[in-house]
Amino acid sequence: MKILVIGSGGREHVLCWLLGSSSLVNQIFCAPGNAGISNDGLCVDIDPMNFDKITDFCKSNNIDLVVVGPEAPLVAGIVDHLESAGIACFGPNAEAAKLEGSKIFMKELCDSHNIPTAKWGKFDNFESAKNYIELNGAPIVVKADGLAAGKGVIVATNTKEAIKAAESMFNGAFGSAGSTVLIEECLVGEEASFFAIVDGKNVLPLATAQDHKRIGEKDTGLNTGGMGAYSPAPILSESLCITVQEQIINPLIQGLAMKGIEFKGVFYAGLMITKNGPKLLEVNVRFGDPECQAVLPRLKSDLLPALLASRDGELKNISLQWREESAICVVMSSKGYPEKYTTGNVIKGLENAADNETIIFHAGTKLQGPDIVSDGGRVLGISALGSSLEIAQKRAYNTIDKIDWPQGYYRKDIGWRAINN
Ligand code: AMP
Ligand code: GLY
Repeated sequence: MKILVIGSGGREHVLCWLLGSSSLVNQIFCAPGNAGISNDGLCVDIDPMNFDKITDFCKSNNIDLVVVGPEAPLVAGIVDHLESAGIACFGPNAEAAKLEGSKIFMKELCDSHNIPTAKWGKFDNFESAKNYIELNGAPIVVKADGLAAGKGVIVATNTKEAIKAAESMFNGAFGSAGSTVLIEECLVGEEASFFAIVDGKNVLPLATAQDHKRIGEKDTGLNTGGMGAYSPAPILSESLCITVQEQIINPLIQGLAMKGIEFKGVFYAGLMITKNGPKLLEVNVRFGDPECQAVLPRLKSDLLPALLASRDGELKNISLQWREESAICVVMSSKGYPEKYTTGNVIKGLENAADNETIIFHAGTKLQGPDIVSDGGRVLGISALGSSLEIAQKRAYNTIDKIDWPQGYYRKDIGWRAINN
């Protein structure tokens, strides 16, 4: 089969790497890809939002399946566009992708089906948002309704900060994504993610993971797209996983079905494990990045049959085998990320840095003559497996020590919650 992966991050690199190992696959393409992906497939310079160009490419290259990595094209309807042109796609259509594209849509569905989540209110003007914040006090969480590249959530420790956040959202800080604002109760607990593949009806659990969203060690500083992850997340015990499936995932999928919406693709539940049990923070409709770089190296089975079965409504026939080992992914970013940083800096030493249990996934990299240079905020993801998380962690950091990139930054404590427990 010929597969086209859409996207250019670490998530797409791990997908190309893994799908490339499938005995069913003859050729992998990636649009637009990055320097690392070009070792696993052919990168084609097409913008993930240019659906017409992607359709033309698929037709002229006889693509059998398109696997969409990031949320923006999913929310904008890439699956509807390609499927209506007769091209098979893995991922949710635009209606189902609203679970990620509109936090209000997700919260209303939770309320209709008694799904545990933070109490919330929605506001379309600053004055009423401000009143609500003053009435409820801090800590309190202010969110833009729409997609904001992971930046539209402010966990405010005082009312002044919350009011300022709401004001800047109504003033267009996130464009139309912030024209409606949610204000939520601040949940307390440990965060974890649960990943599953869904075929409209059946839910095939994949694995759990924990992300590290903050830029600084011990989870301090600004929020980022994710600075590292490990899988499994010990806090999500087997019995909690069952609770998550029964109380959160199944009712959401059924709730969508009752509205005539079929959810197909990756279901990523962002959870807060509170003392009253797991509560849903957010739903994403694609693999997490960098969680995917920790989850998928643990997969022993071929991933492709599960992706095809998701599209065809046949997931009940699929079971996946996983390695016993833990996996970790440490992200290397450009110094200064998530604020200002420079790009175009040469990264050396990549060829000999990894051992058998370590893989270097690329995100913001590109080829410049003979060199690999940085080309974004998050640049590399160093994934490692180990019989324990500590061993995996050591391997990842040993590999990082061999990478020569003075303008790079990474957190030195990825895995700390699980290792110190
Ligand atoms: P979201 O994109 O909705 O997951 O929010 C990004 C991050 O903000 C989450 O990973 C949490 O760390 C934090 N967050 C979101 N909602 C809440 C909440 N209701 N209570 C506490 N923290 C939250
Ligand atoms: N790492 C968070 C996300 O993929 O949304």
